[in-house]
Amino acid sequence: MATTGQVIKCKAAVAWEPGKTLSIEDVEVAPPKVHEVRIKIVATGVCHTDWEYLYETGKGMKFRPFPLVLGHEAAGVVESIGPEVTKFSPGDKVIPLFLPQCENCERCQSPKTNLCRRNWSNTQLGVLADGTSRISCKGQHVYQFLGVSSFSQYTVVPDTSLAKIRSDAPLNKVCLLGCGVSTGYGAAINTGKVEKDSLCAVFGLGAVGLAAIMGCKAAEAKRIIGVDINPDKFEKAKVFGATECVNPKDHSKPIQEVLVDMTEGGVDFALECVGSPPVMSAALESTTDAWGVCVIAGWTETEVMNVMVEKILMGRTLKGTYFGGWKSVQDVPKLVDSYMDRKLKLDEFITHNLSLDQINVAFELLKSGKSIRTVISLWQEKTKPGVATF
Ligand SMILES: NC(=O)c1ccc[n+]([C@@H]2O[C@H](COP(=O)([O-])OP(=O)(O)OC[C@H]3O[C@@H](n4cnc5c(N)ncnc54)[C@H](O)[C@@H]3O)[C@@H](O)[C@H]2O)c1
Ligand SMILES: [Zn+2]
Ligand SMILES: [Zn+2]
Repeated sequence: MATTGQVIKCKAAVAWEPGKTLSIEDVEVAPPKVHEVRIKIVATGVCHTDWEYLYETGKGMKFRPFPLVLGHEAAGVVESIGPEVTKFSPGDKVIPLFLPQCENCERCQSPKTNLCRRNWSNTQLGVLADGTSRISCKGQHVYQFLGVSSFSQYTVVPDTSLAKIRSDAPLNKVCLLGCGVSTGYGAAINTGKVEKDSLCAVFGLGAVGLAAIMGCKAAEAKRIIGVDINPDKFEKAKVFGATECVNPKDHSKPIQEVLVDMTEGGVDFALECVGSPPVMSAALESTTDAWGVCVIAGWTETEVMNVMVEKILMGRTLKGTYFGGWKSVQDVPKLVDSYMDRKLKLDEFITHNLSLDQINVAFELLKSGKSIRTVISLWQEKTKPGVATF
């Protein structure tokens, strides 16, 4: 390609400082270094975690350096490859990964975990393997969120943080497999190991929670109870397989007691997809004694959850999930196949399609509870804000 080896000038949404809206800037994206791949991002989802890092950094989230390009749920096409890259070629369709799979480390070789630690400390600090970012703006380095930064028309990622996917996959749909949908679906299937005919409760009916419901349904759970304080989410939850929905605000008793009553003893599996410590405690307490399993998918880094010890003594298990337990490089292409075979829903998560310069609208829609997922097309002209495309 004509751009190979050159610095690419393109548009990106830059977060200059925490708590401030993103600004669309002209950025420069350097060529990939050894074991790196430069990607043209075609579409990116907007995840709750992007919002958290912008508005909660230093609060519920650890401090991350700014300026920063957010975005970590995306799909694109390989533009060029750096030295020693063997598994990718220009033109390949790919999904960048905030969780790598290097295949060599102890974690990758264990079937017990998906938590590869390759480049972990660097990507948490917003830089690649050599300690620098490939994106700069106005002569200043801009950090790469989780080593990805998909709110940019081009980005560079390590070759161990990239999944090659089939060439007929629609990138404006499968981008959702880069985070939210994979996380929720895997939280139920891989981490919770939800069983046939079980009773389940899913707390939080955003994309992660709806995907968890989809996972419970795939596992043939008998009852799947959706819990959310926003009743507008209930209709969608039923599309994904919720058998009933509950709004904690409609009850004078704590929600865990309501669920224990509804199920005559508690659910077998509770999945927390909100990111709130009190909701995490409620999820654990809504499970049955003897074998109840509570999976935490919601994200918070500096807050503490209360665990009533007796709940654990009486046989309950508390687990957490990162990226739904999927081994990213090998499993994401399989999830794409499941979507293409109509075994996995993706279109139903997408409530809005917007362009990059409408990215702040996407954050507002997410925070006000009006969207499930907005997909940002990086190369599209502005559309009417807030157009729903159910
Ligand atoms: N574990 C992981 O690897 C991983 C990956 C992606 C996202 N996450 C986290 O998952 C969580 C959900 O992400 P999302 O994109 O679906 O978010 P979202 O904002 O779209 O959905 C959150 C939902 O929780 C509901 N909610 C808020 N307070 C509630 C309460 N007290 N009780 C019940 N429901 C309540 C909201 O109304 C909303 O519907 C976030 O914390 C996000 O950071 C974790
Ligand atoms: Zn995410
Ligand atoms: Zn590894």
